[in-house]
Amino acid sequence: MASHLVVRASPPFRVPQDSENLKGALTRELERELERDLAREMERESRALLDGPELERARSITQPAARDEFLAGRLAQRKLAAALLDVPASDLTACYSCPRCGTGAHVSHGRPGYLLRGAPAPLLLSLSRAAGWTLLAAVVDPEPGLRLGIDAEDPARTDFEGFDAVVLTPAERLDLAGLSGASLLQARARLWARKEAWLKMTGTGLQTAPDTVDVLAGGKGRTGLRDLPPAETGLPANLVAAVALAD
Ligand SMILES: CC(C)(COP(=O)(O)OP(=O)(O)OC[C@H]1O[C@@H](n2cnc3c(N)ncnc32)[C@H](O)[C@@H]1OP(=O)(O)O)[C@@H](O)C(=O)NCCC(=O)NCCS
Repeated sequence: MASHLVVRASPPFRVPQDSENLKGALTRELERELERDLAREMERESRALLDGPELERARSITQPAARDEFLAGRLAQRKLAAALLDVPASDLTACYSCPRCGTGAHVSHGRPGYLLRGAPAPLLLSLSRAAGWTLLAAVVDPEPGLRLGIDAEDPARTDFEGFDAVVLTPAERLDLAGLSGASLLQARARLWARKEAWLKMTGTGLQTAPDTVDVLAGGKGRTGLRDLPPAETGLPANLVAAVALAD
């Protein structure tokens, strides 16, 4: 049976989904109070569900918003994994794989995975954060050798001098040469999302220089790499995303 890809977007935890209606009605102070409550609730849930190395990594993130986004992403990932495996989230132990540090419950960075009651859970996972959102991909009971990577990008974050030189191959730079303004940022983000999805799938991440990875449409040797439209991810239309699923 072909392995089935599941993609889920989880919204910024600070902004409730019906925030547009709420925002008009709430004063700034009430809004801040609501955010404090949400942050407290997330802290409580994190302490209850996340593992020691995950909490330790969260403590090492000094910027509060980045720390909140880290915790929100790890909670969303664990809940998705538990729902797909039909087990309580507390039965899972985070087990990451880093190309330098190895694999195990003591590793809190790299390719995500879980142990289920001590054995590797039959699940491929990938995670990306952009503009406060968490994008998750999963495959339950994957075929042997299958690997997965997902990435989301905010085009606004590609608006800096030197992006093309560091990130793009010569062919990609040529392809973007006629573009400017919003279309240039959109095209940069599209290529960047494809590269990161691919490099998460291979597991090397940015240890592989991104300007050596050609991801133009039709590029050779990138079977399983494709763009993900907002209708498939649930992300806002201004964000771009890509997934790589191959062996
Ligand atoms: C993977 C990478 C490209 C993602 O960078 P990013 O754009 O900043 O972040 P994103 O939000 O898109 O993705 C973050 C997620 O990527 C995943 N990830 C990190 N390294 C990964 C790897 N080697 N393979 C697959 N997935 C990886 C994790 O799930 C991470 O989530 P976490 O913060 O909850 O741990 C980048 O983090 C990277 O290159 N990491 C590897 C660097 C490395 O190996 N360093 C050695 C450390 S000892």
